[in-house]
Amino acid sequence: MKKALITGIAGQDGSFLAEFLLSKNYEVIGLAKKEFTTSENIENIQDKIKIINGDVADFDSVLKTVKDIKPDEIYNLAAQSFVADSWNNPSITAQCNALGPVNILESIKRESPNTKFFQASTCEIFGKPKDSPQTEETAIHPITPYGIAKLYAHLMVETYRKNYGVFASCGILFNHESERRGKQFVTRKISNSVASIKLGLLDHIELGNLNSQRDWGYAPDYVKGMYLMLQQEKSDDFILATGKPVKVRDFCNIAFLSAGIELEWEGSGLEEKGIDKKTGKTLVKVNPKFFRPTESNIYVGNPQKAETQLNWKREVSFEQMVEKMVQHDLELLKK
Ligand code: GDD
Repeated sequence: MKKALITGIAGQDGSFLAEFLLSKNYEVIGLAKKEFTTSENIENIQDKIKIINGDVADFDSVLKTVKDIKPDEIYNLAAQSFVADSWNNPSITAQCNALGPVNILESIKRESPNTKFFQASTCEIFGKPKDSPQTEETAIHPITPYGIAKLYAHLMVETYRKNYGVFASCGILFNHESERRGKQFVTRKISNSVASIKLGLLDHIELGNLNSQRDWGYAPDYVKGMYLMLQQEKSDDFILATGKPVKVRDFCNIAFLSAGIELEWEGSGLEEKGIDKKTGKTLVKVNPKFFRPTESNIYVGNPQKAETQLNWKREVSFEQMVEKMVQHDLELLKK
């Protein structure tokens, strides 16, 4: 039986990956901070996994965990993952997102050199990308504290791979969402608000940059890509993406349609509004509070390398994903 250690096991990706690896007959051990060990994401698998309280930012606890367990595979999914928050908490972001992965790599090098390592890297390392769609060769120049911290980790993975022979792969992950996405992220904020508006629990939703385009896939498809990266002969970096950019505004259109509401848009800039075509009521407004100091307006990834070399396939389309998220939030709120 193979042993996998998942950091951030209680999060969206960690919990989906744990379920997937259990279905492949792995022994699954999670490293999670105390406050996350009772997350509802892992409620249904609590008796099938082992949880160790720990923090990737604490080198001693990581070293001890790796030494004690000597896992076949480590998936590093622990992160301060909210880009907007990285301006308010740049130091915590760096400790977790930059130094955390290095703590794991160094522990593997010292105590368990046969362990294979997956690092959740991100399209945020491209900053304002020079190519479209982005590939594994696109120039890297992050512009957010989050992206800069993730880039440090990204390059350290390459360093440990090249200089110490550690099997270490980065998934350059584009946005991936699900019913388990945190409500601070725009997709879940929208699906949850659409459900609340539909049930008469909320008047309208306030958003930031409606023109921002992201490449949104379904998280359970992405964790399969992570697994595939560690089943290869050689470690390498792979983009996981759909290749289809969608604007925040269009995400709203599709999410509201899933609840039977057709939107039309009026005005521009701060005055832009999404209006219910049937009733004339304003359901979406712009609030500058949700703007970021700087960001890329368009991320779109080319997943060809993962598709051809890993045989990575996505099973859930963008439209199906939005539908699932809205229906899930409607069910939750009805309860
Ligand atoms: N969160 C949020 N809230 N974002 C908004 C809002 C709002 O009210 N209005 C517009 N947006 C825009 C943001 O400006 C951004 O351009 C886009 O919606 C997506 O924002 P998020 O959902 O917060 O995700 P992200 O793209 O910043 O980061 C996510 O994807 C990265 C790439 O995979 C996170 O999961 C990162 O951890 C990840 O690296």
